[in-house]
Amino acid sequence: MSEKNIILIGFMGAGKSTVAVELVRYGHFCLLDLDAEIERMAGISIQEIFRQRGESAFRELESQSLQELVGQKRLVVATGGGILGLSQNRDLIKSIGRTVYLRATFPALQKRLSRSIHRPLVKEQPDWMALESLLLSRIPLYETADLIIDTDNKTPKEIATEILHKLAEG
Ligand code: S3P
Repeated sequence: MSEKNIILIGFMGAGKSTVAVELVRYGHFCLLDLDAEIERMAGISIQEIFRQRGESAFRELESQSLQELVGQKRLVVATGGGILGLSQNRDLIKSIGRTVYLRATFPALQKRLSRSIHRPLVKEQPDWMALESLLLSRIPLYETADLIIDTDNKTPKEIATEILHKLAEG
């Protein structure tokens, strides 16, 4: 089994954290949830970071926590949906491990995000048009992943098994 890290990317609600847990269950990896790591570093929730310090402060912490992964092995990393926004993160992420894009259609994401209560970019009354255009603007970045997995109508377990099979194939 490869020692390379697996880095899950994709939009909010794509299931990165849930699939990461499944991957750890089936492969021999440790779990690292980057948003949780940022909260640990900052000592406050992501929501509070956005509220008190603004999005750019959050992005800085996000970059820092990514840099800390350099040299680590056998991790499954669940990233935040905006991780590829900064070009420095895009370069870094490729050197850290194999990237896997969990692709979901907007209606599927919308369904999951409408139950979301803790994401600063998804308001109580979500602006779906703005979220859809954010998704569209990020798709070309997500599509640079080493592996793309369609996730609609699949369970986290099915997605994790598919990832492990496809990564093992090459
Ligand atoms: C963000 C996604 C969130 C979190 C932050 C910003 C984004 O993570 O990092 O709220 O810009 O898409 P999830 O993708 O895990 O929701």
